[in-house]
Amino acid sequence: MSDTPLKNISTDHLFLRAARGEQVERPPVWLMRQAGRILPQYRALRANFPDFKAFVKTPEAAAEATIQPVDELGVDAAIIFSDILVVPEAMGLDYKMVESVGPRFPTVITGATDVKGLRSGQDAAASLEYVFNALRVTKKALNGRVPLIGFAGAPWTIFAYMLEGGGSKTFSKARRMLYADPALSHQLLEKITTTTIAYLKGQIAAGADLLQLFDSWAGELPPAHYREFAVPYLQRICEALPEVPKTVFAKGAWFALEDLGEMSCQVVGLDWNTPPAFARARVGADKVLQGNLDPCTLYAQPEVIREATLEMLRQFGPKHIANLGHGVYPDTPLEGVRTFVNTVKGL
Ligand code: CP3
Repeated sequence: MSDTPLKNISTDHLFLRAARGEQVERPPVWLMRQAGRILPQYRALRANFPDFKAFVKTPEAAAEATIQPVDELGVDAAIIFSDILVVPEAMGLDYKMVESVGPRFPTVITGATDVKGLRSGQDAAASLEYVFNALRVTKKALNGRVPLIGFAGAPWTIFAYMLEGGGSKTFSKARRMLYADPALSHQLLEKITTTTIAYLKGQIAAGADLLQLFDSWAGELPPAHYREFAVPYLQRICEALPEVPKTVFAKGAWFALEDLGEMSCQVVGLDWNTPPAFARARVGADKVLQGNLDPCTLYAQPEVIREATLEMLRQFGPKHIANLGHGVYPDTPLEGVRTFVNTVKGL
């Protein structure tokens, strides 16, 4: 046996070359939420578990769900099957995934005592070993076929869940806290940030080739608050993880594109409201842009999907990773997803 370490064959993969901003033969393609209910084989696997959390905490099952879209759709990257809400849980705020409703936190953060009581940093991330195990199992099973994306929620989005206890129409509890007690808000964001850094370092150690930060509720904040309560924490996370390329997907944050252009990430994800040229003019020439087809396009006839995808590719030009502008909706016809992927791949 040779002592030479195994070459990480995936560093030369199209997706990683594109994410580093290198010139590539075609844009790589994957879909946010590709590991999930669009696939019949996911639904079959999911049926073996009493609930979503039990599924997420079983590394072999999570690995299988991660690889299913690679097998079925031929996407250029796998994203680890998990959820952004595992972080608040690790910090001490338990959640339930209520069938066809969504996540619910029975207990929420209401004041300083609650914030003080939360675990953070390595102390919290240590309980996420099951995600690291899922990454290890997946990485081994992928055997270099495609790179493996790790992820976490952005601090503001996790903060929002911790205060709201679930999704919200107005996010007024979370936004109110930013006005009512900015110091306490920063304390909580700080705790989420140190936890996220420890968690993502663990993901890199377990084999993640690229990391994506999901700031799903970015568009709920006024620009000044996004700059004060979101951008600095995102930047800290990016700076703390120099080993791999990073993608920041801040949904609805068209007003923050200049800030995202200066962030220590290689890729900026765009939602479908943001025209590619508008984004390019604001983030500058260096960043790779990811996105941003309206997920509803995939309900259309194949010709319509093909045309819309080609038009999107034309609008982005080089330095582009093809994706939707948000996660694929669970009831999207698989044929629509296939048409999108194959069109980008020139098939
Ligand atoms: O394929 C992938 O992208 C990997 C897996 C993944 C899931 N959630 C699995 C999941 C990823 C990257 C996420 C991220 C996530 N989770 C986000 C950020 C992305 C976004 O959509 O803005 C957010 C906001 C969440 C929180 C969350 N998790 C909600 C609101 C819900 C319920 C709504 C829904 O889609 O059902 C979940 C549940 C969830 N996370 C499911 C999956 C496959 C469905 C549950 C199931 O299969 O039983």
